[in-house]
Amino acid sequence: MALKLPIFMDSQSTTPVDPRVLEAMIPYFTEKFGHPASRNHPFGWEAESGVDVARDQIAKLIGARDPKEIVFTSGGTEAINLALKGVVETLDVCKRLERQGVEVTYVPVGRDGLVDVEAVRAALTDKTILISIMFANNEIGTIQPVAALGKLAKEKGIIFHTDATQAVGKTPVDVEAMGIDLLSATAHMLYGPKGVGALYVRRKNPRVRIAPMVDGGGHERGMRSGTVPVPLVVGFGKAAEISREVMAEESQRLAGLRDRLQEQIVSKVDEAYVNGHPTLRLPHNLNISFAYVEGESVLMGLNKEAALASGSACTSATLEPSYVISALGVDSELAHSSIRFGLHRFSTEEEVDFVARKTVEVIHRLREMSPLYELAKEGVDLKSIHWKAE
Ligand SMILES: Cc1ncc(COP(=O)(O)O)c(C=O)c1O
Repeated sequence: MALKLPIFMDSQSTTPVDPRVLEAMIPYFTEKFGHPASRNHPFGWEAESGVDVARDQIAKLIGARDPKEIVFTSGGTEAINLALKGVVETLDVCKRLERQGVEVTYVPVGRDGLVDVEAVRAALTDKTILISIMFANNEIGTIQPVAALGKLAKEKGIIFHTDATQAVGKTPVDVEAMGIDLLSATAHMLYGPKGVGALYVRRKNPRVRIAPMVDGGGHERGMRSGTVPVPLVVGFGKAAEISREVMAEESQRLAGLRDRLQEQIVSKVDEAYVNGHPTLRLPHNLNISFAYVEGESVLMGLNKEAALASGSACTSATLEPSYVISALGVDSELAHSSIRFGLHRFSTEEEVDFVARKTVEVIHRLREMSPLYELAKEGVDLKSIHWKAE
């Protein structure tokens, strides 16, 4: 069967809605259109029950004990804002605004993208109120030692937040077992709709309090006012339910495809460096730096055939190297040359083989045109060259 081009391999940016998710959502746009906070008639009850089911499905996926711990938001961004600003504001009030400004310490990562738990411990002070970490990175896919950080936070009595936007539904997440107090997630990374996310807010051991960012009718137990978007929430719930069922098998299949893609590329291209941790990474994620070529040129060379991203979608407009790749300590040329491949539920072996072949072709073509590559192959140390024209 002919492949439909371009092939989508940018699943860290978003994912297509699973047809089963869409099917579950549709009735909530039309016949079940009630307001979930309408208490006096069946339209409201029906919508509320849709939201309740979704809350339960999401709680189950992340191991939350109580569905009341799930607060719906407009997406991952809002869930992160609510967690961080909400905690800081609440605790700052408790501490009678001890400090004027909030001090933030950034803990560096190693070459594989992993944070060292002991370095986090060393960075804590008696003023630390919150530890926050991206559960799995959206560029290199490295999965952090979340359970160990949760343990550390608990030991110190500090609230622990994780942005699990890329992790939920892809790798096991368990707020209880991992000692997570606040967790941000979004539906559109797990084959659900865009425009809906959730913040998990622990209710016991400890009971976490957050100040709302949006005031109004006091929906979502006062933490996020505004009419809950029922169809989106129902879709998020269904997506969570499906992910929970298929995750083990799906991640194994995607890791197999990812390894195949990696192998087919790195076996045919010299000086291709895989970024991130070799094993502690998301199963569908592959990030490779190709020395002597610009990531942007590779994307341009491929864009009729494959939808990929360079290191970071956020900074690609400015052509700055990815801060994630730079943070690994690789030099800026390599940071400029990274390409991110993102497989997903509907990716096939044929697509992988095709994209691998096309990527290899493009890299070879670009290198043939690259004077730097030629010099390097002749044994010239590029760092020793003085480029300045006299
Ligand atoms: C790690 C991470 N956090 C948060 C977000 C933002 O989520 P949303 O698009 O739902 O606002 C993204 C989106 O790409 C992400 O990758």
